[in-house]
This record gives sequence, C-alpha cells and structure tokens, in this order.
Amino acid sequence: MEQSSKSTSGSLPSSTPAWRALGSLAEDVLAQARAGRDIRLGDLHALPLSAPAMTVDGSRLVMTDDALGRLFDLGRERRLEARRDAMLRGDVVNRSEQRAALHALLRDVGGAVCGDAAEALRASVDATRARMRALAEQVHSAERAASRGSPVTDVVNIGIGGSEFGARLVCDALQDLAPRGRRIHFVSSVDGLEIARLAERVHPPGTLFVVSSKSFSTVETLLNAKTLRAWSDERGLDAEQHWFAVTGKSGAAEAFGIPRANIFDVPDCVGGRFSAWGSVGLPAALYLGWPLFEQWLKGGSAADSHFATTPLEANLPVRLALMNVWNTTFLGCSSHCVVSYDYRLAQFLPWLQQLEMESNGKSVTEDGIAVDYPTAPVVWGGLGNNGQHTYFQFLREGTGPKAITVIGTKTASSRYPEHAAELDAHRRGQVTALSRDTSAGSFNSVSQLMLDDLGPSQLGALMATFEHATVCSGWLWGINSFDQPGVEFGKQVARQLRAGTG
Ligand code: F6P
Repeated sequence: MEQSSKSTSGSLPSSTPAWRALGSLAEDVLAQARAGRDIRLGDLHALPLSAPAMTVDGSRLVMTDDALGRLFDLGRERRLEARRDAMLRGDVVNRSEQRAALHALLRDVGGAVCGDAAEALRASVDATRARMRALAEQVHSAERAASRGSPVTDVVNIGIGGSEFGARLVCDALQDLAPRGRRIHFVSSVDGLEIARLAERVHPPGTLFVVSSKSFSTVETLLNAKTLRAWSDERGLDAEQHWFAVTGKSGAAEAFGIPRANIFDVPDCVGGRFSAWGSVGLPAALYLGWPLFEQWLKGGSAADSHFATTPLEANLPVRLALMNVWNTTFLGCSSHCVVSYDYRLAQFLPWLQQLEMESNGKSVTEDGIAVDYPTAPVVWGGLGNNGQHTYFQFLREGTGPKAITVIGTKTASSRYPEHAAELDAHRRGQVTALSRDTSAGSFNSVSQLMLDDLGPSQLGALMATFEHATVCSGWLWGINSFDQPGVEFGKQVARQLRAGTG
C-alpha cells in the first residue's frame, strides 16, 4: 500500500474557529509583507520563554500579538494539555498501531510519567536500565580488562535511522567529556565501504559490537551485522564477550547468535526516533560511561517535567510547536532551516530531520482524512557558521518565506576566547541579517534558542524539548506523529527487486 488510505469524512482541525481566525490574520500579515512592511512580534509580546537549560526568543518571528493569542486558542481547541497528559499516562496515542508512546518513561528519573499503563511497564524499563548501567560500569572498570585479557577500545553500533541518530548525537556532542581510551563507531548504510573503513580502524580484541534494531528485520542492519560477525569470527572473537543486541525481537537476535544475556529490550511502545533514551542508547552509555549518560537522562526528564506541568502560554515545547505551525501552515514557509552555533551540535540536524519529517511528513490525519493544509516543512540546515559560506545567500536574498531557528549556547568554543567571541558575533550578526526586511512576500520568520551550556543535562533537555514540540505540532495538525507507514512501501519495492520479482 503506497500511502495511508484517505477519506474525506469527519472534521479537520482547519474547520475550527481559531484555525479560521489564524487564516485571516495570516492573510493580513502576508499582504503587509508583500507591501514591504516588516511585521515582527517584537520584544513586548515575545517575552523570552525559559525552560530547563534554555530560552527561546520569538521577537523576530513574522507574527502579530493577535496571531500569538489565536495560536494559544488553537492549542486549547486541539486539547494539547489533555493529549499531553494522555501520552505521559501511557494511553494509546498511536492509534494506527494501537500503541502508547512512552519514550518519556525511559528517562523518567523525575516522575513526570504516571498512570497504570506506564507503571505496568516501569519495572521492566528500570531493569533494562540497570543492566545497561552494569555493563557500562563493567566496560569502564579495570577488572574487565584483566578478566578478559583486553580493555574495551572500540564500541561499534550497527543500526540505522532511530537506531543510530540519537546515540550518535549524544556521543558526538559529549565526546570531550568522555573517559579516555575508548572510541565509538557507527555503521548504518548498507554500502560495504563503511565496514571496510571500520575494519581498518578498530582493535578486534577490544571491540564490542551492538546490533541495534527494534524490529531486527531492517535489511541494511542485518547484512552489516552478518558481514561484521564473519569478520569477528575470523579473528576469534567470542560472541559472549563481543556481541550485543538491542531489539524488541529477542528471538531473532538469539537466532542471529547473540547470547540471551547480551540482549537488551526495546519496548513496543517506544518508536525508533524516540528510542535513544533506553537500550538503543547502550552504545552511548558504553562509550561515555554511566555518569554522563545518566545526567543526559536527567536533563530529558527535567524537560518532561516542564512540559507536563507548565501552562500552555509558558510551555516551551508548545510554543515551539505553535511557531512551527504558524510559520509552515499559515505563513507558507515550505522549509525550516535550523542552524547551530556550537560545534558540539554537529550531529543535531540528522537527528532532528528524522524526528520531524518522519513524524509529521504526512498528508492524512490520524483518522485517515486527507488534510487541506501544509503539514511538516522540509527541515534542513546544520552548523550556522559553515552555512554562512554556502546557503545563507539563499536565506538572505532568496525568494519566498522561510522559517529559521538559530540555536546558540553561552559556552560555545569556551576554551578559545577569541574564537568564542568571533563565533558569538557571527551568530548575533546573522540573526540580524536573516531577519531581513520583508519584500514582495519574501521574508524569514526567525526564532532564537539559547542554551546556558551544552553538557549532558542541557543536551537531554534540548532533545526532549524538540521531541515534545514535534508531537505537539502533530496534534495541532491532527497527525499521528508516532507511525511511519510511508517508509514501508519503499522497503517492499526493494525487497521485490532484490528477489527479482519487481
Ligand atoms: O524505516 C524506518 C525505520 O523503521 C525508522 O523508523 C527506524 O528508526 C529505522 O527504520 C530502524 O528500524 P529498526 O530499529 O527496526 O532497525
């Protein structure tokens, strides 16, 4: 089936009073933009909104305070708070797959998650986390090196999509804090060159392989694991010491030859792109050590508590979602450029792209009704300082409306003061330059997000905040953000071609 079946029965979010009012307000804003009048929310009504570890400044959004008020009305019409509570309670919020979405339980060291369904799962989640901790502490202990003849020098994650990006972002961002002596590697695409290059870099006796696949049926991951297993066997590496699996299908992992004691569970109610907080994060825990990994979980949990308890108007994930929907659906921004001015966020964008575009790149509501409005934008960008020398010309003088989020931290490049000053000036200068005057309908609606630092807890808060903002955007659009029916068709065609039947 190429796409979710469409129906036209039932009501769309676009039929609600707040949505219609926003449509009228947007037409007025766009008319003023075409006339060259620069409409910005301004400091008066866009009081910087603070949440754990970060502050968002919407003063340069192309928006009026009337529209901001209506957006909160839309949030109430779409019952964001009730849907949030249902998700954190463990209700079935992923209706197409009849599942809950309890990724917050994986990091719930702060008590934001509650409810019978969540409590029923908590014991097994806590048990998996305890096993992860035990293995991470063992890997970082001298005893292991002695008892097994070689310290762990290399951790290899074999996985793709949500079974790669979250763990990769955490490892890359926090590598400067990691204990010395260990390297992390990620093998994901089925291109054999990835494996060939890896084989040249790792030290076999000290290498641990983690096959990360919730379904344990992703062909790229299985072929990569098969090839690396043969390479490992040729070097006499014992499976019990060197091979681990992270999956919801333990039987398939055992059949592959992973010892039962080395298999870590991925709960059914945790989607791939939301899963790094649990066993999918095992490679990060092994590489960084448990203290850093636990601080990252606590940062995510702090963001959950903010999301769970803060009224709509001061709720950061809600604000990000309302800005996203306003920019995309009402102003017609077809792309959202996210640029970071901190090298520790070099891997942030690939993670965010899957999160937002696999969650909300859909054209039917959760009831299967074809939408009559734009939903998820193209999410692109990367490191802002580099972008200034490639695509900022497009942002500054290209045609059409664009949404831009500039992420900065107060400690970027902090060990090099002259570099830090230069980087900060570029960030602040570009926020001004990108908030260009509107002309002939071309403009940039710009948000700034500042982090006070980028340690494990701030990174956790940042990632959890964007998870909640993505899900709130889906609720505003009437979309199920937790399934991904669109990716199955391509896999089916590939299978048929591979079998010579396509
Ligand atoms: O094909 C898309 C997808 O299912 C993603 O949602 C997921 O993160 C990735 O592939 C990997 O899936 P698995 O963890 O089951 O190998």
